[in-house]
Amino acid sequence: MVILTQRRRLTVAVLVLVLAAGTVYAHRGATGIVKERMDAMMSLGDAMKALTAMMRGKRPYNVERVRNYATTVARHGSEDMTRLFPEGSLQHPTRAKPAIWADWEHFSALATELTVYAGVLKSAAANQRAPGRGGTTPVDLTPEELATMAPDAAFERLRRTCSDCHRTFRMKSELPPRPPERLGRLARLPGVNPVSTAAVR
Ligand code: HEC
Repeated sequence: MVILTQRRRLTVAVLVLVLAAGTVYAHRGATGIVKERMDAMMSLGDAMKALTAMMRGKRPYNVERVRNYATTVARHGSEDMTRLFPEGSLQHPTRAKPAIWADWEHFSALATELTVYAGVLKSAAANQRAPGRGGTTPVDLTPEELATMAPDAAFERLRRTCSDCHRTFRMKSELPPRPPERLGRLARLPGVNPVSTAAVR
C-alpha cells in the first residue's frame, strides 16, 4: 500500500517534470546569450499569436491591444535584436545559422525592418479594416503607403519579416517529441512502472 502510493507520487512528479520540459523543449539547455535571444523570440511569438487571433477574428479587434503588441515587437527589433547575435554565438542548442555573420548587412536590415513594420502597424491600427486582404499586399509598398492602408496589410508585411529572416538565417529544427512518445520513453525509465504511468495518462 505504502509502496503503491510512493510509486504513484513518483509517477506524478515525473509526469509534471516531463510536461513542463515539453513546453520549453526549444530551450533545451540553452544558456547565456542564446537563451536570451530565444526568450526574446518567444515574446515575439506570443505577440504575433495574439495579433493573429485579432486579425483573423478569433478575438475581438482592439486598437489599443494591437498598438501594445506592435510596440512589443518594435522594441525587440533593430539593435535590441542584433545585440543578441554576437559573432559566432552558435552554442548548443541554437538554430542560428553561421550565414548571419557572413551576411550581417542583410540580417541587420531584417532586424530593422521588424521595428519599421511594427511601427507601421501601430500607425495603421485604427484604419479601416480589410480582413483577408493583407495576404495579397504587394511587397514593394513603402512603409508610408502601408501606414495609410488597412492594419491587416501592415500585419501581413510584419509577419513576412519574421519568416524572411527565419527562412534565411534559422535552421529547421528537429521536431519536438510528441506527448505519447514522451510518455513511452518515460515508461521505459528505470524505476517507473509502465502500468502506473498508463493509469495516470
Ligand atoms: C533578423 C532575423 C529575425 C527576425 C526579424 C525574427 N527572427 Fe525569430 N529567430 C531568428 C533566429 C536566427 C532564430 C534562432 C535563434 C537561436 O536558436 O539561437 C529565431 C528563433 C525564433 C523562435 C524560436 C525561439 C526558441 O525558443 O528556439 C521564435 C518563436 C521566433 N524566432 C519568432 C519570431 C517572430 C514571431 C518574429 C517576428 C515578429 C521573428 N522571430 C523575427 C531570427 C529572426
